[in-house]
Amino acid sequence: MCGIVGYIGPRRVVPILLEGLKRLEYRGYDSAGLVYLHQGGLVKHRAMGKLVNLEEKLDAVRDVESHIGLGHTRWATHGSPSELNAHPHSDCTGELVVVHNGIIENYHALREELQGKGHVFRSETDTEVLVHLIEELFNGKNLLAAVRKALQRVQGSYAVGVMWSGAPDMLIAARCQSPLVLGVPEPGDGGGCLLASDIPALLPYTNRVVFLDDHEVALLYRDRFEVRKLASGREVSKEVKIVDWNPAMAEKGGYTHFMLKEIFEQPQAILSTFRGRVDPENGQVSLPELGLSDREIKGIKRISLLACGSSWHAALVAKYWLEKRVGIPVEVDIASEFRYRRLILDKSVLVVPISQSGETADTLAGMRLARQAGARVLTICNVLGSTMTREAHGTIYTHAGPEIGVASTKAFTCQLVALFLLTLYFAQVRGTMVAEERRTMIESLVELPPLVAKELPGWLEEMERLAEEFVKSRHFLFLARGENFPIALEGALKLKEISYIHAEGYAAGEMKHGPIALIDRDMPVLALAPQDGVYEKLIANVEEVKARHGRLILLGSRGDDGLARLGEFVVQLPVVMPDLNPILYTIPLQLLAYQVARLRGCDVDQPRNLAKSVTVE
Ligand code: F6R
Repeated sequence: MCGIVGYIGPRRVVPILLEGLKRLEYRGYDSAGLVYLHQGGLVKHRAMGKLVNLEEKLDAVRDVESHIGLGHTRWATHGSPSELNAHPHSDCTGELVVVHNGIIENYHALREELQGKGHVFRSETDTEVLVHLIEELFNGKNLLAAVRKALQRVQGSYAVGVMWSGAPDMLIAARCQSPLVLGVPEPGDGGGCLLASDIPALLPYTNRVVFLDDHEVALLYRDRFEVRKLASGREVSKEVKIVDWNPAMAEKGGYTHFMLKEIFEQPQAILSTFRGRVDPENGQVSLPELGLSDREIKGIKRISLLACGSSWHAALVAKYWLEKRVGIPVEVDIASEFRYRRLILDKSVLVVPISQSGETADTLAGMRLARQAGARVLTICNVLGSTMTREAHGTIYTHAGPEIGVASTKAFTCQLVALFLLTLYFAQVRGTMVAEERRTMIESLVELPPLVAKELPGWLEEMERLAEEFVKSRHFLFLARGENFPIALEGALKLKEISYIHAEGYAAGEMKHGPIALIDRDMPVLALAPQDGVYEKLIANVEEVKARHGRLILLGSRGDDGLARLGEFVVQLPVVMPDLNPILYTIPLQLLAYQVARLRGCDVDQPRNLAKSVTVE
């Protein structure tokens, strides 16, 4: 939520800030703003709404001779979306500015205190207290000391960038519980330093990154950087990591939307996630990154999966896989519930937080509680160096590449692949599946990327036809059973979040316990009906819908001609082994949501009220 970016170096700063904001806009788009230093003074531009509004205001100053600045894109928490509440925020003199991602929880008390001392506030934001607090503590010389003192008085979360017109050669950055990454030059090359909420904003300029930790403050200069402990001021040495993403990965590459590009990238993303981890010939999976010995894996008594949103749906699928193939009890929690219930955990429980971003506040908090309770924590994550990957005992990275569209697509299917690998690996170590069976499953997984690549263009067309038919629908039901039930939830979430059509996913057998009352001649009901172990049961539920004249859309196995008798629309999918159906069946549902949202003229990549990375509770 909110994205911040900053640059100091030899290039002109405005285009760098704008490019950075473009790549961070998925984090919030209620307003955007930037500030740069020009002829000794700070120049600030802000605009309500999307970044394009700010860009329009900047036409005349794009080439301005300035080499230091900060930018911000906002997802409103305190204070409505307005130009006045847009960042950067300034102190009373206008010589000091701050951009901030996070929440200052004690802002009310601080605001009263500072107002009492004569500070004049211009916005309703929590952030503004920070800049006035720094101003209050600043002696006009040592800005770092003032920033450190101010941040020690602040409760809550922050990633901040601070700039002062009196220090034209330095930016200050600090973090506590909100992500912040630095882009740093090769020693001696003077290429400049960057700060950003996320890696894609740095990619056009560098792949050398430094992840700030909580309670650290960084000083950025043209040719070097230093990082200090917030409380003691002691310098800390930081490892420079090299990111293997390239700038094109965070661009649309000829597609109309990021979401469509990311849907079409799934064959490659799935392949990258299992590549090097499976040996199809011998039916072996290797996951050394778990950091768990065979003895430890055999000693696990229970697995606890926690996540939010789509990642939670991936966890629900994994419960079916792990219980069926490994015979281990699995519980699945929504992270915001997990963190406030009584946790019964010890070292025999493996806790697996699943998160694309690795920064989701509730998942992170749940994971910290699990660690404190003595559980072993293994995260499944897509973002190198994110907080969860640094705090977990081990990480299985999904190699989906950067996901910019706010609705999760390729990151979700890659989470499923990682969880599938985890299932096979545990089955291998605990001896719960014979080698031959494992080999067949690995072979099927390996066959999946080319299969999906072949089907994608046809699905895009079929889903467009369906979207034309249902574009005016006000409600939608998604039904499935077994390991595909969570995919019904995922299909409904995709549709509602990007097209704003009310949609719900149900376990098909649950229909007659209430939701069946909703069925009438106008209600679209999409059922996932592959020929698996619960096919007959699912078909019985579909009959119940048909008897009540619901408009049935069936996604089922190629060659299952019986579906035509039941469904008003039938989409046939290739037959794969049942365990892999959740991955396969997700993709046409993503395309359905995409096509409906597109036809309804919705903003596919940046749906209203949402932000990609939910770093507030
Ligand atoms: C839905 C979606 C969200 C995320 C959720 C968790 O399309 O993207 O529901 O899945 O906010 O985010 P991560 O996985 O980053 O923890």
